[in-house]
Amino acid sequence: MSSLNLVPASTEDYRRIAERKLPQFLFDYLDGGSYAETTLRANVSAYQKIKLKQTVLKDVSAVKTGVELFGTPYGMSAGLAPIGMGGMYGARGELQAKAAADALNIPFTLSTVGICSLEEVAQVSDKPFWFQLYMLKDRGAVQQMLQRAQGVGVDTLVFTVDLAVLGARYRDKRNGLSGGTSLAGRVRTAMNLAGKLSWIRSVGLGGKPHTFGNLAEYVPNASRPDDFQAWITQQVDASVTWKDIEWLRGIWPGKLIVKGILNSEDALEAVQVGADGIVISNHGGRQLDCVDATIDILPEIKAAVGDATAVLLDGGIRSGQDIFKAYALGADFTLVGRPWVYALAAGGKQSITELLTTFKSEIEISMALTGITQSHEINPSVIRTRA
Ligand code: GLV
Repeated sequence: MSSLNLVPASTEDYRRIAERKLPQFLFDYLDGGSYAETTLRANVSAYQKIKLKQTVLKDVSAVKTGVELFGTPYGMSAGLAPIGMGGMYGARGELQAKAAADALNIPFTLSTVGICSLEEVAQVSDKPFWFQLYMLKDRGAVQQMLQRAQGVGVDTLVFTVDLAVLGARYRDKRNGLSGGTSLAGRVRTAMNLAGKLSWIRSVGLGGKPHTFGNLAEYVPNASRPDDFQAWITQQVDASVTWKDIEWLRGIWPGKLIVKGILNSEDALEAVQVGADGIVISNHGGRQLDCVDATIDILPEIKAAVGDATAVLLDGGIRSGQDIFKAYALGADFTLVGRPWVYALAAGGKQSITELLTTFKSEIEISMALTGITQSHEINPSVIRTRA
């Protein structure tokens, strides 16, 4: 977009507005990946290499993007991925995102390290939402969190397994996020905030309290990525194995989705322990750099598990056409991460709703121009090449 005064039309447009509005350290935490960000870029560029087969003169006067997942009908094959600290990107950001997801009839996933708590999100509407959790050293805390989730009607647990240790994120390091309370750290924060008046007003002051709502008793003050990093280092259990997932399966009565799968062997293990779904994910290129782009590894993993578990995918989705391509290559569902937070930072609930509406219409257009009217008719034959 050449001028920031134009109406935003694409994810990139919302990203540019978010960059202008947010303090640099928050924009970088969201936008960045680990190491040289090779996987972050590959996730996105892999979609651009997938060519579609246009098919004309079919009756495409009524195109329907709806799909079913776990017996629940959704407006399209995409939900909102869990993102930590959403409430630092818009005032009570998770609530705004939940409302936008409700409007499109798609699921919202609350992160363990969301600013808003499970109970607060549940106030938005009666529509169930999903909850993301890590394996904590304190299994009692895990059980307590699951009980709280169940208590507010969460029906689907997204269990993240690719964060035993945190990938090194150079942008965060450069922004001086460790030792943030030192004099140098405070000066950097002040410089970061200069010129971000609307953010200071609406989020910095208007969006309090800034704490990890679900963890308020463990982490009293949490508004910066280094608070998140410190908590991960202290609390996330790096000794977790499939046995622990089996334990989790035994105590969680709802749907269980294991997030962070990148090879067929792990996917089959997930099936073995009774996961209802997996998310093929490289954590948005934020963990191990130089792994496969998720869309590239999807066909192989889908071939390995077949219909034994639902196959979800995240990473790199920036348009409805990307969602369409993922569905065509075998994903039962996708999760959209950074785009919803760019839109949140750009214009709150309204912008998220607009972006999701754009995604839905891009799926409709992709379907219409490949001669398809129902989601279940989308299959690999709409893909021309993937090289
Ligand atoms: C959290 O999950 C992160 O990637 O920062």
